[in-house]
Amino acid sequence: MKNILVVGSINMDIVIKVEHIPKIGETVIAKEVNYSFGGKGANQAVAIAKLGGNVTMIGRVGDDNFGKELIENLDKQKVKPSGIEIDKTEKTGMAFIYVSDKGENNISVNQGANKKLDVEQINRHLDLFDAAEICVLQLEIPIETVKYAIEICNKKNIKVILNPAPARKIPEEILKNIYILTPNESELSILTKKNVKTIEDINNASEILLESGVQNIITTLGEKGCFLKNKNDSLHFAAVQVDAIDTTAAGDSFTGAISIALNNGKSIKEAIEFATYVSALTVTKEGTQDSLPDKLEVEKFINERREVHEK
Ligand code: RIB
Ligand code: NA
Repeated sequence: MKNILVVGSINMDIVIKVEHIPKIGETVIAKEVNYSFGGKGANQAVAIAKLGGNVTMIGRVGDDNFGKELIENLDKQKVKPSGIEIDKTEKTGMAFIYVSDKGENNISVNQGANKKLDVEQINRHLDLFDAAEICVLQLEIPIETVKYAIEICNKKNIKVILNPAPARKIPEEILKNIYILTPNESELSILTKKNVKTIEDINNASEILLESGVQNIITTLGEKGCFLKNKNDSLHFAAVQVDAIDTTAAGDSFTGAISIALNNGKSIKEAIEFATYVSALTVTKEGTQDSLPDKLEVEKFINERREVHEK
């Protein structure tokens, strides 16, 4: 099995538990604060590794303790850190995450070293592309780097999975080389400049991306499941119902699960079904990478839910 290459961000998450997320001008007393290993790129890489994938990462951290701990953790999680470099001038990326009693969150990110992951760094690790079948990217590193890495994938026949988060406009040259795009509703809306409320809106907005050359658009809809659009299908998949504790990293686990399922030879629809279970499990646990399930947990969960259905 060829590798999955993740090109993306690595952050230390500072998770602040509050009863409700503070409004503008409001001060709240936090219930507790925890550190959790994060960053959309690292989360997706760890999700893949825990689900049994061969995964290598290109990323960048600062020359500080957070950076050291994050690299050690990736190593421990069996993500090959061959493409990770240490930046001498920038701090390790950090994310400040509020999580409410209802499991809702909001996040602000200081990119730090992630914003120095440039085209030259990609050029220093071209060998990692040769070993890859799938490349997974997000938008927490410079867009020029994302664009360049995708061009390399295109030349080397590597399938590109892009999780367009955090939301921003993406140039057309990028879109036409994407095999799977995994936005959430608000990212889909920003990408297409359309309001998306109903499934019909999602279908229409996805159509625009399909015309731009994206081959498959899978929009994640939280507790409403997800929607797949490609040239053959327009399909709504239901979510697996669970009690949400913390939705942080749910989207990352979904994109990671899609990648590993495809790498294992599954079809897109099978990959979506698998990813739906993986992301459901992720929201039932606190924290970022701490909440990512491994292969055995997912298998057990799928069997339990099937039994319930059969009864
Ligand atoms: O998707 C969740 C991630 O977004 C967090 O781990 C945080 O680091 C931010 O990048
Ligand atoms: Na979680």
